[in-house]
Amino acid sequence: DADGYIFDLDGVLVDTAKYHYLAWKEIAKEFGFELTPEHNEQLKGIGREVSLHKILSWAGKSLSEEIFAQTALRKNESYLQKISYIDHKELLPGVLPLLQQLKSKGKKIALGSASRNARLVLERTGILPYFDAIVDGTMVSKAKPDPEVFLKAAEALHLSADRCCVLEDAPAGIQAAKAAGMTAIGVGSPEILKGADKVISSLANG
Ligand code: BG6
Ligand code: MG
Repeated sequence: DADGYIFDLDGVLVDTAKYHYLAWKEIAKEFGFELTPEHNEQLKGIGREVSLHKILSWAGKSLSEEIFAQTALRKNESYLQKISYIDHKELLPGVLPLLQQLKSKGKKIALGSASRNARLVLERTGILPYFDAIVDGTMVSKAKPDPEVFLKAAEALHLSADRCCVLEDAPAGIQAAKAAGMTAIGVGSPEILKGADKVISSLANG
């Protein structure tokens, strides 16, 4: 049993992955590119700019630095608009009972997310008070699969990596957790989350 639990945000705690997908789909369409759920799987967990680079390479397009930055900003504006009315109903099944159970056992809880909107999403969904530490996209320079985000989270919890367990829905996140020397629990399907120490279908079934 670990001492610290580090949660990914999008797709693990909250059902926001679909809003990221819709926002990217709109942008891809502008380049005449149809973004599929399979493409989107590869965008999960990785940062905004890296995501845009990937979409551009799939679409065979390139943008000037200025237009690139504008496009990334527009994606975020569209995403923010889509999440502007979210509340606790957006929490995925099993999240609240698990957070409560971990708290009552005296476990430390951290967030390890690539998103620069993470704090906002935790606030809107009402689970911010459960977190002892938050490491998000405003605090890391290297996107998952780099372990930076999880190593910083462990440090913020004052725990060594081997005492931490990561919960992740994205292949890049599982890779990042293993690279950090942590236990990695995949939330989703085993075919996609290869390399995880264990895969559960949702936090309600763990
Ligand atoms: C991750 C999401 O949590 O955050 C990605 O899985 C997203 O889809 C990334 O691109 C960056 O998020 P944001 O909110 O800073 O654009
Ligand atoms: Mg995720």
